[in-house]
Amino acid sequence: MHNDIHTKLPLYTGDTGYQARPRLSRGLRIVLASALSLAAFQYLRLHSDLLSAPESVQVPLRAPEWLDKCHLLNAKPGPPPDFKTRTQSDRFAPGTKPTLITNATIWTGGVNGLEVLHGDILLDGGIIKRVGVIESDVLEHYSHLTRIDAKGKWASPGIVDLHSHLGVDSVPELQGGDDTNSLKGPVLPWLRALDALNTRDDAYKLSISGGVTTAVVLPGSANAIGGQAIVIKLRPTVDRAPTGMLLESPYERNGSVYDPRAFFRYRQMKHACGENPDGVYSMTRMDTAWSFRQAYEHARKIKEAQDDFCAKVTRGDWGGLGDYPEDLQWEALVDVLRGRVKVHTHCYETVDIDDLVRITNEFKFSIAAFHHAHETYLVPETLKSAYGHPPAVALFATQARYKREAFRGSEFAPRILAENDLQVVMKSDHPVLNSRYLVYEAQQAHYYGLPHNLALASVTSTPAKVMGMDHRIGYVKEGYDADLVLWDSHPLALGATPQQIWIDGIPQIDTPHLLSKPAAFQRRPHTPNFDKEKEETLKYDGLPPLEPKPSHSRTVVFTNVKSVYLRDEQSIREAFAAESDDALGAGVVVALDGRLQCVGSASSACASSVRGSDDVEYIDLQGGSIAPGLISAGSSLGLSEIDQEPSTQDGYVADALSESVPSLAGGSGALIRAADGLIFGTRDALLAYHSGVTAGIVAPQTGGFLAGLNSAFSTGARHKLEDGAIVQEAGAVHVAVHPVGSPSVSTQIAALRQLLLGKTAGDVKVWFERVKAGEVPLVIAAASADIIATLITLKAEAEAKLKTSLKFTIIGGAEAHILAKELGDANIGVILSPARPFPNSWEERRILPGPPLTEKSAVSTLLDHNVTVGLGIASEGWDARNARFVVAWAALDANGEISKADALALASVNLEKLLGIKTDSVQGDLVATSGGDLLEFSSKVVGVISPRRGVVDIM
Ligand SMILES: *[C@@H]1O[C@H](CO)[C@@H](O)[C@H](O)[C@H]1NC(C)=O
Ligand SMILES: *[C@@H]1O[C@H](CO)[C@@H](O)[C@H](O)[C@H]1NC(C)=O
Ligand SMILES: *[C@@H]1O[C@H](CO)[C@@H](O)[C@H](O)[C@H]1NC(C)=O
Repeated sequence: MHNDIHTKLPLYTGDTGYQARPRLSRGLRIVLASALSLAAFQYLRLHSDLLSAPESVQVPLRAPEWLDKCHLLNAKPGPPPDFKTRTQSDRFAPGTKPTLITNATIWTGGVNGLEVLHGDILLDGGIIKRVGVIESDVLEHYSHLTRIDAKGKWASPGIVDLHSHLGVDSVPELQGGDDTNSLKGPVLPWLRALDALNTRDDAYKLSISGGVTTAVVLPGSANAIGGQAIVIKLRPTVDRAPTGMLLESPYERNGSVYDPRAFFRYRQMKHACGENPDGVYSMTRMDTAWSFRQAYEHARKIKEAQDDFCAKVTRGDWGGLGDYPEDLQWEALVDVLRGRVKVHTHCYETVDIDDLVRITNEFKFSIAAFHHAHETYLVPETLKSAYGHPPAVALFATQARYKREAFRGSEFAPRILAENDLQVVMKSDHPVLNSRYLVYEAQQAHYYGLPHNLALASVTSTPAKVMGMDHRIGYVKEGYDADLVLWDSHPLALGATPQQIWIDGIPQIDTPHLLSKPAAFQRRPHTPNFDKEKEETLKYDGLPPLEPKPSHSRTVVFTNVKSVYLRDEQSIREAFAAESDDALGAGVVVALDGRLQCVGSASSACASSVRGSDDVEYIDLQGGSIAPGLISAGSSLGLSEIDQEPSTQDGYVADALSESVPSLAGGSGALIRAADGLIFGTRDALLAYHSGVTAGIVAPQTGGFLAGLNSAFSTGARHKLEDGAIVQEAGAVHVAVHPVGSPSVSTQIAALRQLLLGKTAGDVKVWFERVKAGEVPLVIAAASADIIATLITLKAEAEAKLKTSLKFTIIGGAEAHILAKELGDANIGVILSPARPFPNSWEERRILPGPPLTEKSAVSTLLDHNVTVGLGIASEGWDARNARFVVAWAALDANGEISKADALALASVNLEKLLGIKTDSVQGDLVATSGGDLLEFSSKVVGVISPRRGVVDIM
């Protein structure tokens, strides 16, 4: 056919006398040479008058190719016009059975109002064929239909992650698979994430089990322009090869064959500004801004040269044309200027956002989304002044403050942006957050005030639109890809877990393990009112005052209390449960000088005890609850304010095993005390306090073996000398055993054996004597089952020699479930940290993921073997505030095996026990929540009864 065109056109028969200098790569020339298109043919026919005149000018041999390019120069991306009427997906897997899901509550997608249908969904050919009431004559066509009874449960579009590094920042993390960032220079628009995609990453299966079906996989943020991103589905087509995972190929059709007849599809590109490129290339913000301008100026010149060239070609002005101006390294950035690329810009601070917005106006391109974008909610008008259209904003729900540019991050940002008519996307930045729980980000955004339809859209329809793929994903509508999730509850209810996930009409879990949820979880959670907090956040530029405000009255009475949970030695019990939902059945809790006085019904002696007193503050909890304050453990909370700023934290201890500890500090006998480095009043600590986490237990930070002594502190205190600021000076000795190369794991175990059975000196000796007497727990950070098994045998060995029983606690514990029985038998407790497992490193790869992938979770497996379990935070303090939701989720995942009281214990009394902190039942803080208990999305923390501090704080 190509030859046909050549011979039909007389202008090709003669000698053109015009030789284009071959500047393109050989590969590309071959591709281009074989690609004379129908479009060009038609163009040539229509414009043959131009081609044949003026007679004196010879038409170059490559004219058709150029005409082809020029014709498409300003073509806009989009699906082919017949896309809507397709009967089969291009990703259809032959043999996929048609499926009918009946009796579902369907959230169809979209951002306008409540788009919910009750009915059926028919999947066939990899697409959604029908939604709602499906006529029987439609179904008659199908002889083999897989039927799924949804039993009224919620179905939503598959979850869409606008910001992921799935497959390029691979898990488990290995040196051989670190393909996130090229460090070859700040401007690399020619790199392609597709060229690095690992399709064997352990995370695909996990992310799918959380409902994720599509992700934009981006290069990292080390560079101002990090390269081209790709949109993948988490299920490959034919081969498990990177190309087969592409949702749509933006620039190559049918394998690697360039086909200009194909419609352009949007490309995706990563940009980053601020601290990351600045840090990697020793630049300032000024340098990074210049990198952008220099790059865009270069691309602009190429674009203009192309425009000029094509203006001449279109006129038939063939004289002295030269070669078509293009450069493979810059073609993607030229495409940005042609509006064919969705630009994803990692950008946090106002100055960076403003810089990028100015650059968009200088070079006339638009940004699809600002990502992370922690200060966007403070500058909505700046966003609106960006070239073309306001960028969407892709956010974390509560992850913030880990570096300066994230310091003003706010949980109210999604709501504030939405109120400013800006598009809100919640994203994972996987593996920064495990994208399995992306829907949890939407749930939290909803909790803090993002309307429910926008919250659901923020992980489905909105990201689909922002990436230019909303013609096929992000909706449950006829003709859309058959990507959907059937949930066990309302998707915005805490702990929502998929019962099944379909990608291209194919169910993704062979035998899903289902959870039974309370009926109330089928309804959208009723969330608290945070108007005041939102206004304060804006008023104070993102840093509203958070210091606790003690009640002015000595007596505080909480009324309309539905439940009360109290400490009982080392457990938590439900001390009061309302007899009915009305105010009459509700309870009253009286506190005097920060101490619980009594609990009773509205008609009890407790209630009447305060009648007549005038120095009383009454707080109506509206069906709320009183429960023990939770504790943060496992993170640097208490020793660090901004994790990436050494000047804001205690820092890292010298590691006695691999370097010499200065003799001035005690040499190898030194045991560093966290209490000496405590930092009070950090924003993470205060936010935790406002969320019912009233204490933290923190060990000295180490990248090595011997950490030191932990300390327990109040998250609400202003400084160490305040009453109750130190809960306990020291409770346990912390060490860590990890495979780090050198010193070997076996050397670290030898050191531990030496500490337990050999000679020691100084504070190390003092404290290890107490460990050896079984008075003080030895807390060992460990993840792998092999190391944990060795620790179990070491404990037995030491106990046999010392003739005592030791207290060992494992913190981390990703693979602890494998040894649940042995740990139970050895009486070793486990703090799972992170609380929800993720195979981040090789030593953590054998996780027990829990429902829907496995029946049991790690928590329930350990509890089944009588292991004392605590739940911790993996690393950064921002997550401390979420302890209440993390324990609630663990209880839901255990399918009714864990009561609310036991769930509260996972992040309170159990942690104290495992970390050597002794709080008697009178001293512990109590937290008052309104509208529900601490474990519910309906509630909000409104007060803290603090016997330690002798006050009742009112939020
Ligand atoms: C749909 O499921 C709900 C919940 O199981 C049930 O009450 C209802 O009767 C079902 N409706 C139909 C049409 O089957
Ligand atoms: C891809 O190209 C091959 C060879 O040119 C052709 O046989 C096949 O039909 C094409 N497939 C599609 C989906 O266009
Ligand atoms: C756990 O403890 C309970 C109560 O003490 C006991 O009945 C049960 O057998 C124990 N389970 C295991 C696996 O040891």
